[in-house]
Amino acid sequence: MSERDTRTLPKAELHLHVEGTLEPEMVYALAEKNGITLPFDDIDDLRSRYSFESLQPFLDLYYACTDVLVTRDDFRVLAGAYLEKAHADGVRHVEMFFDPQAHTARDVAIDDVLDGLLDAFAEAKATHGTTGGLILCFLRHLPAAEAAATLESVAHRASDLLAVGMDSSEVGFPAAPFAPVYARARELGLHCVGHAGEEGDPSYVWAALDELKVERVDHGVRSLEDDALVARLVEQRIPLTVCPLSNLRLQVVDDLREHPLRRMLDLGLVATVNSDDPAYFGGYVDANFDAVRTALDLDDDALRTLARNSITGSFADDDRKAELL
Ligand code: HPA
Ligand code: ZN
Repeated sequence: MSERDTRTLPKAELHLHVEGTLEPEMVYALAEKNGITLPFDDIDDLRSRYSFESLQPFLDLYYACTDVLVTRDDFRVLAGAYLEKAHADGVRHVEMFFDPQAHTARDVAIDDVLDGLLDAFAEAKATHGTTGGLILCFLRHLPAAEAAATLESVAHRASDLLAVGMDSSEVGFPAAPFAPVYARARELGLHCVGHAGEEGDPSYVWAALDELKVERVDHGVRSLEDDALVARLVEQRIPLTVCPLSNLRLQVVDDLREHPLRRMLDLGLVATVNSDDPAYFGGYVDANFDAVRTALDLDDDALRTLARNSITGSFADDDRKAELL
C-alpha cells in the first residue's frame, strides 16, 4: 500500500491532544493577538527546543505554549486547523483530548474551552461529515480533588462530552486516588480512558484497568512486558491507542524499527495508530502510518487492521462504525 493509499483509508483518531496541535506559527500568532510574552527568544528558538529526552521536558514546553490559548475563538481555530489536516489524512472520526486544568488555572473559562472546541466539531461535521467528540483529561500530576472539581464544573454539560481521560506525568503519580472521579464520570454517562504504560511499567496499566476501569488504554506500549496483562487486554479486547512518532520523540523507543506495534498485532491486541501531539512529534496521523509502514515493513493487511481497529475501538455508534468499516 502506498502512502497515498494509507491516507485514503477511512480511520478514526483516538489519541490526539488538541493542545498538542499548536504549531509554532500559531503559538506566535496567538501570543501576539493575546498580548502574551513567551519564554522564548523567537520562533526559531522555540523550534530549536523540539528535542526531548523523556515525557517531562516535552510536557514543560507543551504547557508553556498552551498559555497562548485564551478565547473561545482560539480553541475553535486550533481544533479547526487540526480537523482539516486530519480530514486530509482520511480521519473520519475524532475523539479529541483536551486539558481543561491547563486553561482554568489561567482563569480561562471552561465554557469557552468547550464551546470553542465544539464550534470546530460543528464546522467539520458540516464541511466534511467528520464525527467524534471530546475527552476531558485530568492532569495526573495534580491532586485528584482538583480533577473532581473540574468534572463537577461541567457535570451539567456532560452531554457535550464523550469521555474522561487522564494524562500528564505518569511515573510516581498513582491512578488509585482518581478512582472516585472516574466513578462519578461513569455516573454522568461518560466513557473512561486513560494514559498508562507510556513510561510507566505494566503496574500502571493494571491500575488503569482495575482502579479506573478504563475501556481503552492510551499508549500501553509497556504492557508487552507482562504476559498476564497482554492476555487480559486481548481477552477483553481493550484497544490500545499507540502513538509511534511520539514514542520515538520521547525516547520510549530508541528506533522505530524496535517499536512493539507489530508484536502487538501479532499477539492479537487491538492496537491503533495515532499522532498524540503532532505539532511536537513530527507528524499527523498519516505520517505515523507511513513511519511504521516503513520501519516495521507492515503489509496491507496490517495497515487495514490498524485502520479498522481505530473504528471498532472508537465510541462511535454502531451505525457510524458500519458506515466507516
Ligand atoms: N503523555 C502524557 N501526557 C500528555 C501527553 C503524552 O504523550 N501529551 C500531552 N499530554
Ligand atoms: Zn497522549
